[in-house]
Amino acid sequence: MVEEKCERTYTENTFPKYDIEKPIPISDVKPVDKLRIKTRINEFDRILGGGIVAGSGVLIGGTPGIGKSTLLLQACQKFSEQGHLSLYITGEESAAQIKLRGERLCVMSENIFLVAENNLNVILEHIRKINPKLVIIDSIQAMFKPGLESSPGTVSQVRQCANELIYLSKKTGSSVFLVGHVTKQGMIAGPKVLEHLVDTVLYFEGEKFMSFRILRAVKNRFGPTNEIGIFEMCRDGLREVENPSEIFLSRTQRFNSGSAIISCIEGTRALLIEVQALVTKSNFGIPERKVSGIDYNRVAMIIAVLEKRVGLLLGGHDVFVNVVGGIRVDEPAVDLGIAIAIASSFNDKVIPSEMVMIGELGLGGEVRGVNQFDSRLREAERLGFKSVIIPKDNSKDASGAKSLKMIKVSSLVEAIDNIW
Ligand code: TYD
Ligand code: MG
Repeated sequence: MVEEKCERTYTENTFPKYDIEKPIPISDVKPVDKLRIKTRINEFDRILGGGIVAGSGVLIGGTPGIGKSTLLLQACQKFSEQGHLSLYITGEESAAQIKLRGERLCVMSENIFLVAENNLNVILEHIRKINPKLVIIDSIQAMFKPGLESSPGTVSQVRQCANELIYLSKKTGSSVFLVGHVTKQGMIAGPKVLEHLVDTVLYFEGEKFMSFRILRAVKNRFGPTNEIGIFEMCRDGLREVENPSEIFLSRTQRFNSGSAIISCIEGTRALLIEVQALVTKSNFGIPERKVSGIDYNRVAMIIAVLEKRVGLLLGGHDVFVNVVGGIRVDEPAVDLGIAIAIASSFNDKVIPSEMVMIGELGLGGEVRGVNQFDSRLREAERLGFKSVIIPKDNSKDASGAKSLKMIKVSSLVEAIDNIW
């Protein structure tokens, strides 16, 4: 029956009948915040900018197996507990498979509708009939629009399906989440082609073999971008990590040389993260530099500064740098910490474990000021650190954290002299 109705609606026009909206004064437009619904998964709500905005389109990308379906099913459950309807459309698994996962996650509610379907026309009809607050399309690459020549997963199919789903969601006020797989090789019709169509783009980061998952908002029309949510994949689904800094600091006390604590801003939050460096004598002619969790070129620059400005002869040594916990740091404010970690391993001298490093390095070996200095200090204080090496440029903002000993430096040499 559903299919018959679809045929009628969709043979003439690509889009459903068009209701013309009248232009209205900007002052009369309904504010978005009033239309938000919280999922009550705090980390998820935060990266969405405070909950799901009615009628919004969200793309959620990530490599297969990272936890996209799990998170969205959990969000459906939270939604249903508040009495809202959600519709989960699976194009890859059977409804029974989803139910099986649901049982594992304790997701069981009359308010969650489940259907295994790939035909876009039928899907649109389901959405109109059920009129849910939340629609999950898992995945957009599995859906197809009948009548288009190309097969599911191609650019034209993915784009057309996404366009029509987003159009309908804006009209009906249901929010639609599109799951998009990204492969390490980069899919031809990957989620990238959809980024401009949707309001919010979230990407799951993290390695499959590690239990932590980072969900990052790379675009958000309704909230801050670059905000991250941190989850841990457990036997019963994704759990929020309430104290993220703690997972990026290794749990054992830091007795080894080469380990430094840096401060990093992710979205609106400051995190403290441990970086480790290992410097060993090269066995071959060309020394190796291997990094993980940080830009290779940045580390190469820091090594050059250490050689030229501090006089550390790293030319005959291999250098390995690793960021603990599988997170990626992409911020100049971590430069000083990385330089100190490398120097610590080279000299085989331990950095005091209660110390945090903050500062950007210039090519002249100078330490520059950083932004959002205050929140970095507060996080260090909250986690019980005792001292911080800070750029002199930031001295005037350093009045806040009373329990921290501030060591103000203007150059890398000065910082090293102060530690050892
Ligand atoms: P899934 O959400 O199916 O990934 P995606 O939709 O992104 O492809 O997650 C699958 C992985 O998560 C799989 O390796 C099993 C694991 N997992 C758990 O560890 N605990 C759980 O409760 C669930 C549901 C999955
Ligand atoms: Mg999945």
